[in-house]
Amino acid sequence: MADDCFGHPRLAAIYDRLDPDRGDLDAYLCMAEEFGARRVLDVGCGTGVFASLLAGRGIEVVGVDPARASVEVARARPGGERVRWICGDATDLPPLRVDLVTMTANVAQAIVDPQAWDDTLRGAYEALRPGGRLVFETRDPARRAWEEWTREKSYCVTEIPGVGSVESWVQLVEVRRPLVTFRWTYVFAADGQTLTSDSTVRFRERGEVAKDLVAHGYVVEDVRDAPDRPGRELVFVTRRP
Ligand SMILES: C[S@@+](CC[C@H](N)C(=O)[O-])C[C@H]1O[C@@H](n2cnc3c(N)ncnc32)[C@H](O)[C@@H]1O
Repeated sequence: MADDCFGHPRLAAIYDRLDPDRGDLDAYLCMAEEFGARRVLDVGCGTGVFASLLAGRGIEVVGVDPARASVEVARARPGGERVRWICGDATDLPPLRVDLVTMTANVAQAIVDPQAWDDTLRGAYEALRPGGRLVFETRDPARRAWEEWTREKSYCVTEIPGVGSVESWVQLVEVRRPLVTFRWTYVFAADGQTLTSDSTVRFRERGEVAKDLVAHGYVVEDVRDAPDRPGRELVFVTRRP
């Protein structure tokens, strides 16, 4: 079951409007170029912002995400017809031989269940050609990002054309490391509807991620910083030998 912020049609429709600054994707565009990727699989593609950016550069892209409402937003995006969208996860892929698999915006942390994490790493590996790379980020637990997930720090009112103004904020629900649960609340001024979305994410230690990757046959080439969030993220650059 997808979290409501990705899977509820009314929330998926405003997801990009509530988070319009996607400077985080620049580093991934640079990596696609650095690795000369011509075919990319974007796992956890969400509303398809990154997959569409790649397709606009002439790259062949498959985007997969279990949240149907987000995949529908992705499909309807201008240029969306250039991407092959799949509603599902890394176990639902057709045979592929891509140069690069990506998981942007902390998708890795949204994959909480250990079996689903194993399935994702296995599915990505099978989708890669030998020599192809899997790149993804995960928040460094040492930075305790959840301490900033408060109403005070996140409250905002966003004016969305055709929707009206939407109040939104996040609140921490529970910290039971490695799991952290938080709740987004959305209030639509147009009709007064209030929707909430609960999410649980897993904070994995650097060594744990590296161990999981090696166990699945990957070579960990590098662990980089995210240029837009210095010191906060672990960006894994891995290769299928
Ligand atoms: C924070 S969003 C990021 C979406 C997109 N990558 C982006 O950059 O906008 C996390 C996404 O992970 C997806 N997700 C959750 N579990 C997943 C799984 N097992 N496999 C693939 N994607 C998953 C969610 O549905 C959601 O769209």
